[in-house]
Amino acid sequence: MPPLPVPFSISSTHRLGLDPIATPERLLLGPGPSNAHPTVLQALSRMPIGHLDPLYIELMGEVQELLRYAWQTDNRLTIPMSGTGSAAMEATLANTIEPGDKVLVAVMGYFGLRLVDMAGRYRAEVATIERPWGEAFDLAEIEAALIAHRPTILAMVHAETSTGVCQPMEGIGELCRRHDCLLLLDTVTSLGAVPLHIDAWQVDLAYSCSQKGLSCPPGLGPFTMGPRAEAKLAARSDKVPNWYLDVSLLNQYWGSDRVYHHTAPVNMNFGMREALRLLAEEGLDAAWARHRANAERLWAGLERLGLELHVSEPLRLATLTTVRIPEGVDGKAFSRHLLDRFGIEVGGGLGALAGKVWRIGLMGYNSTPENVDRLLGLFESELAAFRSAPAAVAAIA
Ligand SMILES: Cc1ncc(COP(=O)(O)O)c(C=O)c1O
Repeated sequence: MPPLPVPFSISSTHRLGLDPIATPERLLLGPGPSNAHPTVLQALSRMPIGHLDPLYIELMGEVQELLRYAWQTDNRLTIPMSGTGSAAMEATLANTIEPGDKVLVAVMGYFGLRLVDMAGRYRAEVATIERPWGEAFDLAEIEAALIAHRPTILAMVHAETSTGVCQPMEGIGELCRRHDCLLLLDTVTSLGAVPLHIDAWQVDLAYSCSQKGLSCPPGLGPFTMGPRAEAKLAARSDKVPNWYLDVSLLNQYWGSDRVYHHTAPVNMNFGMREALRLLAEEGLDAAWARHRANAERLWAGLERLGLELHVSEPLRLATLTTVRIPEGVDGKAFSRHLLDRFGIEVGGGLGALAGKVWRIGLMGYNSTPENVDRLLGLFESELAAFRSAPAAVAAIA
């Protein structure tokens, strides 16, 4: 065949000659992503099918129904957003905020601040209440803030990945109903792993991610919207100011009409179906109990080694533990050592806790006693080398 005529000469700049991808074995015990379950990886690697194929449409319904189970909700509008947890976070705000709406954000860590930033971008009038990083809110301060600010939405984080705090939720939904306000909850680090009852807690909007408690790689952001939030969306006087995340458009695809909106990431949804299938097979109660038991094993082991946990026991999050870096230890160098020598990832502190804590995740597939014991063994054998000798510290001082 004669070569095709090429109107311009082809430059070889940027043309890398690479080998096929090869990734190292890692045990991801940080804030996420967590390792994916092997059968989820198998599901992801299947040949794509069309996003309007009847088989795919059946799968969409299964994913929605299993998400409702994972969240313990009957919400009709329950879908995996194409995008990570932040896309689903943005979807909750984009669909329900109208310019000038008052949004109250209860901030107790980094992801509360992200909610503040996003709500402001949708022109909400944002008010905040704050707790120190490592603490949670009580009902009295939430009620006082609802009375003082009279918001249309209260937004908060159930499982604060930056601090390792699990916000107690009992009673907050009732307060929101009493003060005529929607309750929006970040469940990114709790879905599938920590007790979560969207309907019983009267949560109106929630979002999550695929890469933590669900043992799937990052790429989907589960989203759910209850009837009160749907009513607010239906009463909007303007269009949702974000085309991609507009739930009324997305529901024409995920609802019964099956109208094309965007090309769904079909393989991600194959993986999500498998992840949720595994969760249903294990049972929510068993999955929650497993995460709790392994977290308690980790907490006891760390304390036995003389390490201090940042969060008081009643508020501790089973999926993410913050451990204070002892005086004189180079925390970054130690976590780098774990990665380089043993292929284990643990996280460092974020924001107010930067340089002060390690963040250890036990999420989904990775929440096992074997992983806990392996990590504890390494803290026991390796940490001493990263403590400065007292003489050296004295010389610096
Ligand atoms: C509590 C919380 N909210 C939101 C997010 C954002 O999710 P993503 O990074 O998947 O966009 C994260 C990410 O770790 C998180 O931990």
